[in-house]
Amino acid sequence: MKKVFIKTFGCQMNIRDSEFMMGHLLESGFRAAKSIQNADIILFNSCSVRKHAEDRLFGNIADLRKLKAKKRDLVIGLIGCTAQSHKQKALENAPLIDFVCGPGNEADIPSLINAVLLGRCAIIATDKVDEKRPELFPKYRAEKFKAHVSIGEGCNNFCSYCIVPYVRGKERSRDAKDIIREARDLAERGFKEITLLGQNVNSYKGCSFAKLLEKINKIDGIERIRFMTSHPKDATPELFKAIRDLDKVCEHLHLPLQSGSDRILKLMNRRYTAKKYLKLAEIYKKLVPEGSITTDFIVGFPGETKRDFQDTLDLMKKIRFDSAFTFKYSPRPPARSARFKDSVKKEEKEDRLKALLELQSKISLERNKPAEGKILEVLVDGVNKKDAVMLTGRTRTNKVVVFEGDKRLVGKLVNVRIEYAAPYVLKGRKI
Ligand code: 5AD
Ligand code: SF4
Repeated sequence: MKKVFIKTFGCQMNIRDSEFMMGHLLESGFRAAKSIQNADIILFNSCSVRKHAEDRLFGNIADLRKLKAKKRDLVIGLIGCTAQSHKQKALENAPLIDFVCGPGNEADIPSLINAVLLGRCAIIATDKVDEKRPELFPKYRAEKFKAHVSIGEGCNNFCSYCIVPYVRGKERSRDAKDIIREARDLAERGFKEITLLGQNVNSYKGCSFAKLLEKINKIDGIERIRFMTSHPKDATPELFKAIRDLDKVCEHLHLPLQSGSDRILKLMNRRYTAKKYLKLAEIYKKLVPEGSITTDFIVGFPGETKRDFQDTLDLMKKIRFDSAFTFKYSPRPPARSARFKDSVKKEEKEDRLKALLELQSKISLERNKPAEGKILEVLVDGVNKKDAVMLTGRTRTNKVVVFEGDKRLVGKLVNVRIEYAAPYVLKGRKI
């Protein structure tokens, strides 16, 4: 039996894809390798949304030269978004690769590996980018109490900076009955938290997204439901009311803003204005007053002036996000903005990123402070890396909590009295 190791770079979607492929391979006669050194087959699943991940990936593959020279039968595969984006070019960049498999072709992975093992010729499988994936339901899950469930694939939005519609194809939704079947199976196996994943979860087409949440909310055993990522154009009061009314749906909304300048938002093809986003955020806060709201920003988009950037800072001050992921713009051909002049200098992008992070950190602290003295429900997810007696977990609003406790509490819901709030973490005591 051949042993497989999957190395993943990237977002939750990629992590879930790797888990799916591992499950599918385990059910097709392969075994899991404990390390890269120990593997007969090494798969790299890489994100291509930002350039940084891709650079790391090709460095990692090149590092395998010695291992491959020693183990002549070693199979190296490139899977996921980067595979789809580079296709045969990946073989020129990294001649050690035996096969390339895009996200749409991932269900074929056992037969691709077997074909390489038999023929040892390079294979490129990237033709199913727009196809619906077969429903296979492999059992394997990397964790024991929380799980990701993909509700669909692809994206039709074509934000001008984004490579996703090209590498994950057009939007396809899984049937609600298949999603429910997967969620029920997880609940029966003792999973407590489910995160619904999609490039654009709230544009789900199987039924209304709020309805899907309602159906999953009825499944016994599931205690928490999360979802990501949402696009503002599909975020409706109906969805906010579902967050408010459905007891298992956590009070957290991740709603990427990207920029606070109308001019830049238009160039980004985001289909909303700063004012419209602000209005949405206000409706959310009104309907879910105890809820959190987080976002993504890109700094240094082509043509972003100091004025445009100031608009972003001003809007941040008005909305007051709980936290934000911040990225320096990088051109990602064939995304449309790769043809715009990347006009903001590297140092300027860095300065803007720093200013944004500083402001966000101040706001995050202000947003966290009211938690001091409160008792919050925490799902314990592991031991703090720095200290084995300290546990970490998340509140329903997705804030990280650190507290002292026994590691047998991992996977359990506990109540923690918050004693101290910092910008990125809450510290407390279990009650
Ligand atoms: N450059 C920088 N950041 C990007 N993102 C997407 N494409 C790019 C790009 N070309 C960011 C967006 C998105 C997040 C997942 O990645 O903020 O919401
Ligand atoms: Fe990319 Fe925009 Fe689709 Fe998100 S909504 S995946 S940013 S194109």
